Amino acid sequence: MAEVIWGLATSHVPSIGAAMDHRKTADPYWKPLFDGYAPAREWMAAHRPDVAVVVYNDHANAVGLDLVPTFAIGTADSYDVADEGWGRRPVPQVIGAPELSEHLVRELVDASFDIATFHKLDVDHGLTVPLSVYCPDPGDAWPCTVVPLLVNVIQYPQPTAARCLALGRALGRAIRSFPQDLKVAVFGTGGMSHQLAGARAGLINTPFDRMFLEAIETDPDRLAALSREDYIRAAGTEGIELIMWLIMRGALSDRITRIHDTYHVPASNTAVGAALFQDHGHPPMTEEGTEEGMV
Ligand code: DHB
Ligand code: FE
Repeated sequence: MAEVIWGLATSHVPSIGAAMDHRKTADPYWKPLFDGYAPAREWMAAHRPDVAVVVYNDHANAVGLDLVPTFAIGTADSYDVADEGWGRRPVPQVIGAPELSEHLVRELVDASFDIATFHKLDVDHGLTVPLSVYCPDPGDAWPCTVVPLLVNVIQYPQPTAARCLALGRALGRAIRSFPQDLKVAVFGTGGMSHQLAGARAGLINTPFDRMFLEAIETDPDRLAALSREDYIRAAGTEGIELIMWLIMRGALSDRITRIHDTYHVPASNTAVGAALFQDHGHPPMTEEGTEEGMV
C-alpha cells in the first residue's frame, strides 16, 4: 500500500525560484534564506519519495479566471512549466502519476469532496518553486513524479480552513488506500504573511506566522477554526494561502516528528516559512477498512 513518509510546508514566492535560476543564492540578500533550507534539503534528499502530492494554487497564470475550481487534481501524464510572462523557468518538465491521480479523484469524490480534474495543465511558481525548495539541482528530471492538487485561494469565496483540514484527512486516507507500494510526500505551499497590493501591501505579521508554524504541528484544529477573514486580517490578502498547509497537515498522521523549520523576512515583500515533518504512519488498515484502534 502507499504511505505518506513526510510533509513539507513551504512558501512559494516566485523570486525564490528566480534567485536559484539566476544563481544568486549566495548573494547577501538571499544567503540567509537558503541557509535556512539546508538541513531540510539534506534530510529530504536522504528520504526520497516516489511521488509528491503538491497542494498549491495557480495565480491566474495557467488557469484563467473564467473558471476557478475550488479544489482540483491534475490527472495528466506530464505538466509543462508555465510561462508567467518572462519565459518558462529553466527547470524540468513535471512528470505526473496519473494512476494515483485518478485514484485520489475517485476516493475523494466518494468521500463527498467534489474535485474538478485537469487533464491538461501548465504549472506555475506555486508548484515549481516548492519543488526547487525540495530539490535545488534536479538536472534533467525531478526526483519524483507529481500529483498537483489545486486550491482556489485567489477568488472570494475561498474554501474554509476547516474544509481544507478535512480534505487533507480524506486525502491521507485516499493515499493510504492506493494498492501500490509507493512512498508519498505531501507538500502544502504558499504563505506566510503577505499582501502584494493595496494599502496594506508588504504586511508582515511575525507573531501570527510563528504561532502558525508551531500550531500546524501541534494544534491544526485551532488553525482550522479561523475564518477566511481571520486569515486575511492577520496575514494579508495572499496570506490566506496558508490554508493549503492544512491540507498537507491533514494528510499526515498524528505520529509526526518535526525535522526542521525556518522563518525568514523578507523575500520580495513576503515572510517565508518552511516546516518539514516526518510521518511515522497510521496504524495498519483492518479488513473493514478502518484503522486499528479506531473502532
Ligand atoms: C509573491 C508571493 C507569492 O505567494 C506569489 O504567489 C507571488 C508573489 C511575492 O511575494 O512576490
Ligand atoms: Fe502565491
